[in-house]
Amino acid sequence: MQVITFSSIKGGTGKTSHVIMAANCLGAAGYRVLVIDMDLNNAASFYYLNEQTQERVNEKNIAAAIGRADNRLEDYILLTDHRGVDIIPSSLYLVDMRGVSDRRLAQMLPTISEQYDFIFVDTQPTYDNLVLAAYNASDIIITPANLCTFDYNTASFLRDKIATETDKINNWYITINGYNARYAQAGTGIQKEYIDYFQRDFTLTPTQTWLPWTSTVRKITDQNMYLSDKKSGKDTAVNPKLYDAVCALAESISGTSFAPPEEF
Ligand SMILES: Nc1ncnc2c1ncn2[C@@H]1O[C@H](COP(=O)(O)OP(=O)(O)OP(=O)(O)O)[C@@H](O)[C@H]1O
Ligand SMILES: [Mg+2]
Repeated sequence: MQVITFSSIKGGTGKTSHVIMAANCLGAAGYRVLVIDMDLNNAASFYYLNEQTQERVNEKNIAAAIGRADNRLEDYILLTDHRGVDIIPSSLYLVDMRGVSDRRLAQMLPTISEQYDFIFVDTQPTYDNLVLAAYNASDIIITPANLCTFDYNTASFLRDKIATETDKINNWYITINGYNARYAQAGTGIQKEYIDYFQRDFTLTPTQTWLPWTSTVRKITDQNMYLSDKKSGKDTAVNPKLYDAVCALAESISGTSFAPPEEF
């Protein structure tokens, strides 16, 4: 079981979009995937819950699981409509979990390690014990960054925190969100300058995993469309560049090559 946390101090960098697309890709490729939504703004839960599961969120959510004395995470899992993907949803009661041990998730996850190949943890844009609990349970931590100064500054701050307050600095990667391959070919320009800074100071995920900036992302996360690289049904958004980047990200996270699903 691989645990992957998406985290950034800055909001709106693409954490939830990455979680949804990578989880769906691996689920559609035949892996067993669990998404744990640790952001009380619950965007991932909103995406994955349906009419039936929505009714059960009061009992089945990550705050209830964390607050319980034992480690029975499996009691809080809900099924989704996406092949291979289950979820433990978020809850507003996460606000009461601020004092949680930063080892809490690491205690609980082994109880479901037989059930899943990948666990994706979506976090809120902050640095607190809930986020640290996710880091300490993770094999990989990924921070999406847009090519701008504020994302660079908050990533630098986060790097120092992870280096001094966890033993996960070698498991931490930046992924560029909003990469334009056309500008890259030019070899100069503002995009290249920022990428040079990021490459100088951080460990980045491979270039082919960087998502382009495209309205297709919203079609997937807001309109529940599937992503594909070729035309199929009316519920499918076709975007080969985004499709290739998400498949590359999923493959790089999985550490093995797999046949990319036709759509996910
Ligand atoms: N590659 C992209 N192309 C186009 N839009 C994107 C891309 N990545 C993210 N977005 C959009 O940016 C907004 C923020 O993305 P998202 O919700 O994934 O970020 P987040 O880091 O999870 O935010 P928060 O910190 O609030 O949880 C959303 O409207 C999303 O559709
Ligand atoms: Mg989010």
